[in-house]
Amino acid sequence: MKKIMLAFGTRPEAIKMAPLVQALEKHPDFEPQVVVTAQHREMLDQILELFAITPRVDLNLMQPGQTLAALTARIVDQLTPVIGELQPDAVIVQGDTTTTFCSALAAFYQDVPIGHVEAGLRTGDIRAPFPEEMNRVLTTRLARWHFAATDNNCQTLLGENVDPDSVFVTGNPVIDALLQVRDRIESGRQSDSTKQLTSQFERPYVLVTGHRRESFGDGFESICRAIATLAERHPELDVIYPVHLNPRVQEPVNRILGTLPNVRLIAPQSYEPFVALMCGATFILTDSGGVQEEAPSLGKPVLVMREQTERQEGLDGGVRLVGTDEVRILEESERLITDEAHYRQMAEAINPYGDGTTSNQIVELLSRLV
Ligand code: UD1
Ligand code: UDP
Repeated sequence: MKKIMLAFGTRPEAIKMAPLVQALEKHPDFEPQVVVTAQHREMLDQILELFAITPRVDLNLMQPGQTLAALTARIVDQLTPVIGELQPDAVIVQGDTTTTFCSALAAFYQDVPIGHVEAGLRTGDIRAPFPEEMNRVLTTRLARWHFAATDNNCQTLLGENVDPDSVFVTGNPVIDALLQVRDRIESGRQSDSTKQLTSQFERPYVLVTGHRRESFGDGFESICRAIATLAERHPELDVIYPVHLNPRVQEPVNRILGTLPNVRLIAPQSYEPFVALMCGATFILTDSGGVQEEAPSLGKPVLVMREQTERQEGLDGGVRLVGTDEVRILEESERLITDEAHYRQMAEAINPYGDGTTSNQIVELLSRLV
C-alpha cells in the first residue's frame, strides 16, 4: 500500500481535495492520510462534515486575525514531525494558500515527493492575488508532479521550464465536487438544512462573496458601496451575502451593508447549501477563485470583483472582470438586470475546468508515478 498524504487547511482546498480523498479511499493500492492544518476552523469543518472526512491528524492551527508570518511558521514547524511520523510516499497539496506552500516546503525538507493539484495558475503580477501568486510560484518549484486544470495552465508551466514529463492536464477536482453536490440537490437528496435555507429566499437574488487580501481597505469599501447602491436602486431584488469570517471582511461588510432591508448577510455556508444558492441566483458577484470555476458550469453569469484573473478560460463565456471600482460594478450589474440578450449570452453553460473525472485521473496517474 502506498501512503498518500493530503495536506490542506482552508475551505476551498477541502472542497477540491474531498473528491481526491474519496477516489484514493476506493483504490486498493493506496492509503490516504488526511492531515489538516486547520488554517480555517469553522469554514473547514463545514466541508469535512459534508464529505464525511475524518482527518488522521488535525493541527488546529487557526488563530483569530492570524498573520501570514506566524501562520507560516506554525505550519512548517508542526507539520514536519507529522510527516516524519506518518512516512508518506507522497504529499499532495492543492491550490495557493499558506497551507499549500508551507506543506510543500515541509515535505520538501524531508525529501518526500510532492504533487500539486491546480498547478500553473498565474496572473503574472506577484502582488495580485496576494500572497497567492507567490505561493503558486514557490509551490511549483517545490513540486515533483503538477496536475494542471487546463492546457493554458500546462503551457504556463512549460514556459517556466518545468519538466514536460512532470505536467499532466487533468481538469480541476472542484468540478467533481460540484457535480456530486449538484446531483444531490437536483435529485432532492439534499439535507433538510439546505432545503430550509433555500426556502427562505423566494425573490430573485444576486449572490455575493468576497475576501481577497489585496482588496482590503479602499477596494473592499468600494465593493460594499457598489452592493449597497445596487440594493437601494433595485428593491425588487435581494442580495444574499454569506460573509467570510475574516474580521477584515466582517467589519466593512457589516458597517456598510448591515442595515439594508434587501441585503441578507448570512454566515458562511457549507458547500451543499452554497451550491444550492448558486443554482438559484440570478447572477453572482465574487472575488473567489473557486466560484469563478463553478459558476460557468452552472450557467450563472459571474462578475469578478478583481483587477485581474488567473482563470482566463471563463472570460470568453459567462465571466467578466469588473475590478473593485464602485461605478463599474454597478454598471455591469445593472446591465445584467436590464439587458436580456446580454444576460442570456453570459448565462450559457460552459465547462472549461473539467468533466467530473479529475480525481480519478489524478489517482490513476499516482498509481504510475508513486
Ligand atoms: C485564506 C487563503 C486564501 C483563500 C481563502 C479562502 C492564505 C494566505 N489565504 O484566506 O488564499 O482564498 O483562505 O477562504 O492562505 N477565520 C475564522 N474561521 C474560519 C476561517 C477564517 O474565524 O473558519 C478568520 C480568522 O480570524 C482568521 C482569518 O479569518 O485568522 C483569516 O484566515 P486566513 O486563512 O489567514 O486568511 P483568508 O483570508 O481566509
Ligand atoms: N463556498 C462555500 N460556502 C460559502 C462561500 C463559498 O462552500 O459560503 C465555496 C465556493 O463554492 C467555492 C469555495 O467555497 O467552492 C470558494 O472558497 P473561497 O471563496 O473562500 O476561496 P477561493 O476560491 O477564493 O480561494
